[in-house]
Amino acid sequence: MPAGFQQLGGEAVTGTLALSVFTAVLGSLTFGYNIGVINAPQKIIEEDYNATWIHRYGEPIPSGTLTSLWSLSVAIFSIGGMLSSFCVGFISEWLGRRKAMLANNLFAFAAGSLMGMSKVCRSFEMMILGRFIIGAYCGKIMFCFYLSFLSFHSLKCKNRLSSPACSGLICRLFEMPTFCLSFHLFLLCAGLASGLTPMYVGEIAPTSLRGALGTLHQLAIVTGILIAQILGLEMLLGSEDLWPVLLGLTVVPTVLQMGLLPFCPESPRFLYIVRSQEHHAKSGLRRLTGRQEVGDMLAEMKEEKRRMDMERKVSILELFRSPLYRQPIVVSILLQLSQQLSGVNAIFYYSTSIFMKAGVQSPVYATIGAGVVNCAFTVVSLFLVERMGRRTLHMLGLAGMCISAIIMTIALALLDSIPWMSYISMLAIFGFVAFFEVGPGPIPWFFVAELFSQGPRPAAMAVAGFSNWTANFIIGMGFQYVAVSTISIPKYGVLQMFWTFFPNKFTLSPKSTSPGSLWALRVPDLRSAAPFFPHLHILSGARDPGKDIRPDRSQ
Ligand code: GLC
Repeated sequence: MPAGFQQLGGEAVTGTLALSVFTAVLGSLTFGYNIGVINAPQKIIEEDYNATWIHRYGEPIPSGTLTSLWSLSVAIFSIGGMLSSFCVGFISEWLGRRKAMLANNLFAFAAGSLMGMSKVCRSFEMMILGRFIIGAYCGKIMFCFYLSFLSFHSLKCKNRLSSPACSGLICRLFEMPTFCLSFHLFLLCAGLASGLTPMYVGEIAPTSLRGALGTLHQLAIVTGILIAQILGLEMLLGSEDLWPVLLGLTVVPTVLQMGLLPFCPESPRFLYIVRSQEHHAKSGLRRLTGRQEVGDMLAEMKEEKRRMDMERKVSILELFRSPLYRQPIVVSILLQLSQQLSGVNAIFYYSTSIFMKAGVQSPVYATIGAGVVNCAFTVVSLFLVERMGRRTLHMLGLAGMCISAIIMTIALALLDSIPWMSYISMLAIFGFVAFFEVGPGPIPWFFVAELFSQGPRPAAMAVAGFSNWTANFIIGMGFQYVAVSTISIPKYGVLQMFWTFFPNKFTLSPKSTSPGSLWALRVPDLRSAAPFFPHLHILSGARDPGKDIRPDRSQ
């Protein structure tokens, strides 16, 4: 057993640890806020887009163009995540976790200002650019750039965007290679909240608290979504005059994070393993644990460094070529796809208009209801995840979502003849969200790391992140188009059934991992892993975390 492994159990939460975790998850809160913020005021902002169009071209905006512009405003937020997933490792090692988070805040300022000013400047381009930059903040980098570049280009080609000064300027800027390059590098240097937060929290948390503190990332995301939904009420900030303030408020957690970060220690694991700064790592550990004697923890880090040095890095191509990794990588991709293609973000992006179409009388309150259910069941999942195991919870979640989708389908089909069916469809959506947060919401994010050992883990997480954000973009961009087709609702139910039964045939199968990868991860309680890996007899009886489990050198 590695030194210090067990001694870390039962670690207390010190003030510095609590402050550092709170500060880091402010990034996740901003991330969630920007998922939920465009939901309630959709109609009001669309009216402003229309007013801008009339002001420029003297005619109302064609409905197809409005749908495209709105879908782009929503989905551009997620597209860069596809490629930014590849950058988290590099940036965080270059700047360090804390400085990377600090630098990242520049994005939120730029984005908040652009979105907040877009109404005054009568420019939906500023809004789209702002969404794109806040997407970069949340972990979405290069693709945002390319998409904006392409979309500005294509709109300009249609000669629709060339007249107003600011959009013309943006078009010209994006045509200059040096600007493209520096913008590209600028984006590359910051952003990344969605990758940095779990990384920092995972590194500063003692082993015994790692699972619980790790899920705070998801809890902060759902809290951010809920705050945005509440502030989006028309009587608060979701009104015609105040929606720019609603969008600009994204800078508040950023300011708070910038003020608090200097009081948080840099990750000792980073300082020791990456920078070899033992002295600084020690003082960080002392602050985080409140203990003077931290030799056991340093010994554990030393062991991790030794292991890292021994394992060779695995490329993305190798993940697919080698029979050793092929199944786990397919499992990882399917888990991410099952999370996103379940369509949950269609609810967080568009629920107000979904509820409106379903005949619900106060759609904005129903949206807030979905946010409350979302938060509540994330908390439920916190307690269940170690007890019931990932496999059971993921399957339970997907099955529940499937049943909810079928009920929703039936309720919507009967809506014309039975008006109270609108309530049933609303409850079905709540059920859908609740089951999502029980398993498919939080589990795919950390399960990929659990499936792979140190060597292939970075490549696997990059592939998983890419799959997740690609599917997120497809839902964000495509939902409005699918929603207008009459067959959308039955299709939705069928899709759910597919995701419920298909991935689980493949996922979480016994061969998906090695005992070494679990050991490498220092899973707090290996008994919770037993249901996944029945072939690993040692796990079913494991009393001590890590007992007799050695890294799998065959990798
Ligand atoms: C998960 C998903 C994210 C979604 C959120 C909703 O974090 O990855 O896309 O918006 O759950 O709670």
